[in-house]
Amino acid sequence: MCARKLFFAAFILVGLTVNSISWAGTNEATVARFHIFSSTTTTKQVATITPVDELAYRLQIVFNSIFANRDLAIYGLLAAFGILFLGFAIGSAASNSRGSTDAQLKNLKREKEKAENLAKLKAEFLNQVSHELRTPLAVIIGYIECMTDGLYGEIESKHHEILQVVAKQSTHLKNMIDQILIYSRLEAGKQPIRIEELQIVKIIADMRDTFDFLCRQKGLDLRWDLPREPMTIRSDAMRVKEVVSNLLQNAVKYTDRGSITVRVERMSSNDSVKIEVEDTGMGISEQHLTSIFEPFMQAHKTSSTNSRGGIGLGLSIVKKHLEQIRATISVTSEVGIGSTF
Ligand SMILES: Nc1ncnc2c1ncn2[C@@H]1O[C@H](COP(=O)(O)OP(=O)(O)OP(=O)(O)O)[C@@H](O)[C@H]1O
Ligand SMILES: [Mg+2]
Repeated sequence: MCARKLFFAAFILVGLTVNSISWAGTNEATVARFHIFSSTTTTKQVATITPVDELAYRLQIVFNSIFANRDLAIYGLLAAFGILFLGFAIGSAASNSRGSTDAQLKNLKREKEKAENLAKLKAEFLNQVSHELRTPLAVIIGYIECMTDGLYGEIESKHHEILQVVAKQSTHLKNMIDQILIYSRLEAGKQPIRIEELQIVKIIADMRDTFDFLCRQKGLDLRWDLPREPMTIRSDAMRVKEVVSNLLQNAVKYTDRGSITVRVERMSSNDSVKIEVEDTGMGISEQHLTSIFEPFMQAHKTSSTNSRGGIGLGLSIVKKHLEQIRATISVTSEVGIGSTF
């Protein structure tokens, strides 16, 4: 590397020196002398001129030029040295910066690997813990149901009430654990995809009963703006259902009055379908609009009093499903007016 640099520098130095000398030699005196040399050479050539003679004549011209134009030759040499040092400086700066870029790249690679390993570890940990929690919880819920159903004999109404509270909280906990399990399975890419032709309008319409019931309980008006004609798309039915169901659950959860509208329409530009879930709920502030798709992000959980439950995994699950079936999601929202996903 260093030898190559030296060679390069020497090459520049010699080139520049010769250049300056030959430039210096273009004054009239040198030209005249050169003519004399040429004529002498012609004469000598007849009388067999040797390569040593020729070299001697050429050196003589060079030295004559240098002595005749000493100032110019000195300036030329100085310029050549200047450029040589400049070349050195640029070369070493370039190699230094290349070295530091390589080191930075290595560092970045190492950090990326570390982050990937940590993410993997986190997913495995979540998966393991969720499984361990889920099994005993399912047993507890099962026993509570048996007791409240009277399978172990009659229980007092006071105990019945207490058991119902325990059952409700346990079911809530089980749902959260299920969300974590779904998310970690999706993140690890362990959920198989089944792409097939499906009737999207029918899939959405099948959710009507469940959400009509939930909206009625909250006094919300649920509208289904679905096309009459069937629409065939190629996708994964289970994933589409999960996505729409999550969006509808959020719409119900974050809307206290007004309406929720589910809309399905074919996009005119290509072969895809747009599904919209619109609500007149509390809306999302601009600063939270991008982060709500991140796991465990809850825009409205500023204090425990206005929290509406959940752990902030619904939308990140939606995002993961959509990424895997090559679909996209966007949201528009205004605080106090409502949101459209
Ligand atoms: N329709 C909506 N209207 C207003 N805010 C919403 C709506 N949908 C989502 N959000 C905001 O986005 C956050 C993230 O939503 P996400 O579904 O991921 O979590 P969550 O509903 O809080 O909990 P989980 O879905 O795990 O039960 C919510 O906490 C809420 O602040
Ligand atoms: Mg949710």
